Amino acid sequence: MPVKVVGVVGCGLMGSGIAQVCAEAGYDVIVSEVSGDLLKKGLGKIESFLARGVEKGKVTAEKKAEVLGRLQGTTSLEELSGCDIVIEAVVENLDVKREVYQVLDRVCAASTIFASNTSSLSITGLAAVTKRADRFVGLHFFNPVPLMKLVEVVRSPLTSAEAFAQALDFARSLGKTPVRSTDRTGFIVNRLLVPYLLDAIRAVEEGVGSVADIDEGMRLGCGHPMGPLTLLDFVGLDTTCYIADIMFDEFRERRFAPPPLLKRMVQAGLHGRKTGKGFYDYSQDPPKPVAGLI
Ligand code: CAA
Ligand code: NAD
Repeated sequence: MPVKVVGVVGCGLMGSGIAQVCAEAGYDVIVSEVSGDLLKKGLGKIESFLARGVEKGKVTAEKKAEVLGRLQGTTSLEELSGCDIVIEAVVENLDVKREVYQVLDRVCAASTIFASNTSSLSITGLAAVTKRADRFVGLHFFNPVPLMKLVEVVRSPLTSAEAFAQALDFARSLGKTPVRSTDRTGFIVNRLLVPYLLDAIRAVEEGVGSVADIDEGMRLGCGHPMGPLTLLDFVGLDTTCYIADIMFDEFRERRFAPPPLLKRMVQAGLHGRKTGKGFYDYSQDPPKPVAGLI
């Protein structure tokens, strides 16, 4: 069945980007949040990204209006009942995601495909909550979604060949390049990226170099667009901590364990760009490393 209407659950960092690229690709999009305030904030992120695109000459004002016109917000999951595919991008917490899927499974048509944007949870475990495990896939987007070309398309042992092919086609229809992964914790990219990011935090803890020098080292020494500590602030330290906990639980290897500094920063509300402070303080331009972390 061709996809016409896309549902997105969660309009945070990732959900807002996913809703945006789906609307840009011409789909009608319904995006849900837990409250009117969070919905307004999430839709505001899309509006300002598109406005910056207009300023940069990358998007026309007409296209911006067209994209915004295809987006509809809701605070009720029930309103996603008419969607052909639902992409879930709520917090990286198994219980929260399970609850969402139980509602969606009840209200959506049997033909609706479910896709999780999870970074590290098991697609098989999430699919098992529903009665449509054959039509359940991972669609793992990268941050910032409107700019990053990759989507990991993940199949569980229960995903049908047909649903997997549809998910690959859907990712291509968004102008993304899909890679295929089996359902192993962290899939391809986070399996390699997360230990690197956590090691950068351990390097800070051990006083190997300053936050600024570790970032500069990896940017100029390895040609990365962002140093690891800037990237951690970008991803969100809360989200990274959830991911590390899940990966460590799966593999029981130190390289996946959340370092104490990460846990303390999350406890202190230093979640990165989204809270204004993480390894850097974003109230200043350019952002300055936060003092007194160790
Ligand atoms: N609308 C349209 N286009 C825009 C835009 C906007 N609002 N903002 C930027 N662009 C365009 C720019 O015009 C530019 O296009 P050209 O290349 O054609 O000139 C391009 O996007 C890049 O933008 P900038 O030059 O402003 O920014 P940059 O070069 O500093 O790149 C970045 C920004 C893409 C974020 C880059 O820093 C980067 O790649 N960082 C690393 C991101 C990364 O690693 N993400 C993965 C995180 S891990 C993850 O997501 C998985 C997980 O599970 C945790
Ligand atoms: P976020 O905290 O920015 O956004 C999550 C949003 O989900 C919040 O706004 C929250 O209010 C909302 N939410 C929670 N329960 C909900 C519900 N029942 N219904 C609707 N909305 C609900 O987190 P994020 O960074 O966008 O991460 C979302 C998912 O994407 C996670 O699974 C994460 O692992 C994954 N992911 C994150 C990144 C990243 O770089 N941050 C990259 C790829 C994948």
